[in-house]
Amino acid sequence: NQFATTICCIGAGYVGGPTCSIIADKCHDVLVYIVDIDQTRIDQWNSDKLPIYEPGLDDIVKRRRGLNLFFTTDVDTAINKSDIIFVSVNTPTKKSGIGAGMAADLKYIESATRRLAQVAQSSKIVVEKSTVPCKTAESMRAILESNSKPGLRFDILSNPEFLAEGTAIQDLLNPDRVLIGSLQTPEGKKAQATLADLYARWVPREKIITMNLWSSELSKLAANAMLAQRISSVNALSALCEATGADIDEVAYAVGKDTRIGSKFLKASVGFGGSCFQKDILNLVYLCESLNLHEAADYWRQVITINEYQKKRFIQRIVKSLFNTVTNKSIAILGFAFKKNTGDTRESAAISLIKYLIEEQAQVHIYDPKVEEEQIFFDLIEPGVYSNENQVLHKVKKLVKVHKDAYSATLNTDALVVCTEWDEFTNLDYQKIYNQMRKPAFVFDGRLILNSDKLRKIGFNVEVIGKVAGPVTVEN
Ligand code: NAD
Ligand code: UDX
Repeated sequence: NQFATTICCIGAGYVGGPTCSIIADKCHDVLVYIVDIDQTRIDQWNSDKLPIYEPGLDDIVKRRRGLNLFFTTDVDTAINKSDIIFVSVNTPTKKSGIGAGMAADLKYIESATRRLAQVAQSSKIVVEKSTVPCKTAESMRAILESNSKPGLRFDILSNPEFLAEGTAIQDLLNPDRVLIGSLQTPEGKKAQATLADLYARWVPREKIITMNLWSSELSKLAANAMLAQRISSVNALSALCEATGADIDEVAYAVGKDTRIGSKFLKASVGFGGSCFQKDILNLVYLCESLNLHEAADYWRQVITINEYQKKRFIQRIVKSLFNTVTNKSIAILGFAFKKNTGDTRESAAISLIKYLIEEQAQVHIYDPKVEEEQIFFDLIEPGVYSNENQVLHKVKKLVKVHKDAYSATLNTDALVVCTEWDEFTNLDYQKIYNQMRKPAFVFDGRLILNSDKLRKIGFNVEVIGKVAGPVTVEN
């Protein structure tokens, strides 16, 4: 074996795939196995069309695949060959049982850990990469110690991932910090140093932070909660702007100039989405509740309440502007992903908006540059969730059409709604779009990316989050 170290990543998802592909790319002497129980996903990782869209990822995977980077469903063999095991499985919100709707569902963590305990023939460093509640490493250790062969050691590290989708490769190449938590024992610190050395191959040492396990686990939930809190703060202010005539972009700019506050993550929007924020805040709220810290729980819960309020406010503004009814109206939705530069739709604000429009019998025409039609229908129909699934399917198929470009999606519509801030939406030929829409033609900018003055000059009625609608001015 020509490799210095072998690592196995359990979970070939949005985190495991990019993270461990970067390790393979940066450390040619490290053999990397990325494993999953989902055969389709592994087949996609081994094909020309990767299962996730992430700028820059294709090149990296193509460069290393078959050399020191392998995608496989042979979980046991990969575990056995490896010295370091990353656990990067999904930890969604629980759907039933104790903590349903709030607590993280740790069944995937547990089954991956049990598998590891069952098949390991040698000692391993186990890296908790998934976002988990505080103290999960303790449960993993109990499972490993009571189910593994005698004489084996498992040192568990917490190494939460801070990448954001759409910028994952840049975030992984130049992270603000790499966090590694361990038990403060000599063995724990040795394992911590081994992982730190791996990251130090491309991350400056001063950015690699070490601390105790529980601080590390909690820091991940804390970071996401505070990021989401900024968005809810600015979105709460956007409601005030709409009521007073202040402009949220101007307010956010002025506030963000304070170096103590900073300018990032202050963009008002139709509401935050993505697989992490809501889930991780709920997880934090549950943790507070279970420790009887009810006021702390209430505080964080409010971040989600405001997000729901923001989504609802936007829908209400659309309906109100369209003369209080959207029934039989034709509405174009630009963007279905939860943010630009990703094909991921998890918790996307577009989903709840479109579901409402369908409920009201509006015709919905959707265009997103990266989300596949199949995914859109999957999100709107949610197979397995409703008892009247056939009815839902029928309704959705009747009312929703997915288009290949923005011009086709907006043809003969009454309104267009920007749900995702894709760059291409700012450069569309809006005169052409206006000409082919029904009149009065409406634009609802849920991302504050369009030039509303220009659109109003063309003749559109424009409604922007956090801004008062200006008068329709037509130049003659
Ligand atoms: P994902 O759903 O894209 O991928 C998880 C993968 O794990 C799936 O492909 C699933 O089939 C696989 N899996 C589940 N159980 C398994 C098992 N026992 N053995 C082998 N494979 C198994 O999830 P993700 O978005 O990559 O998130 C993974 C974790 O990272 C979560 O805890 C999440 O909170 C955290 N995280 C996500 C992001 C993000 O932007 N998506 C960022 C930071 C942290
Ligand atoms: C987030 C965290 O940023 C990342 O550190 C963590 O590892 C995973 O969760 P992600 O969900 O991929 O990453 O994307 P992010 O850029 O945080 O955006 C989340 C949501 O907030 C998106 O819907 C985005 O459009 C929205 N958002 C973001 C705003 O509405 N306004 C902003 O100013 C920033």
